[in-house]
Amino acid sequence: MRQPLVAGNWKMHGSRAMARALSQAVVRGTAELDAIEVVLLPPYVLIPRVSEEVADSAVVLGAQNVATAREGAFTGEISAPMLREFGCRYALVGHSERRQLFGETDALVAKRALAALQEDLRPIVCVGETLAEREASETEDVVLRQLDAVLSAVPEAQLGQVVFAYEPVWAIGTGRTATPEQAQAVHALLRERLRRLSAEIGRRARILYGGSMKPGNAGELLAMPDIDGGLIGGASLVADDFLAICEQAALRRE
Ligand code: PGA
Repeated sequence: MRQPLVAGNWKMHGSRAMARALSQAVVRGTAELDAIEVVLLPPYVLIPRVSEEVADSAVVLGAQNVATAREGAFTGEISAPMLREFGCRYALVGHSERRQLFGETDALVAKRALAALQEDLRPIVCVGETLAEREASETEDVVLRQLDAVLSAVPEAQLGQVVFAYEPVWAIGTGRTATPEQAQAVHALLRERLRRLSAEIGRRARILYGGSMKPGNAGELLAMPDIDGGLIGGASLVADDFLAICEQAALRRE
């Protein structure tokens, strides 16, 4: 059985006061939910603050991106060793906002995933199609192309450390969620691709759904056989909403 994972992607939101209050609420509210893994992904500058708050809890810290190099002349980048030093265990890579707004390519995303793994930081690799791609029936081609770029860069022995997230771009921050059936179909496709590489990896890989997941729709999405958790944006900024989703994920395990 795969351990459900719920990750809160705060994006570029927050302040020190907000980070403190929200992490404390998440620590308190998930203390009894030991069947699931809960990850917080604050903006870089809030990582030290959140790290202090989650230190004595099971809540895990991660970052929203990671550099391809360990150190050097890369203005504006933050490396995997730096993130590790500040307590991060996960890093998002290939979020659609990075791909669309900052021009990150499949090749760059794969390099970032590899750089994370080399420092024992687990990448959460995001894939997903735009609305135009879905309407042109290109969903499968797009998500498999994005997945394959990472699979061809990462040695098979390290693939067990990778978490995947399917995030249809048209569902992110729009209030428009994929139906459970739409999401399940893509999750099954991704898992099949992983299974073809290795039955073990296919069986064990966690594939999260992201895109307007809220307390009201989380239950039906998380009931799908290949949806192993959620990557939560907007709802992760509201403690009660995030905790309600965590509770639904814990039910999946029972
Ligand atoms: P959303 O964002 O939950 O606000 O749609 C999800 C994400 O972008 O990770």
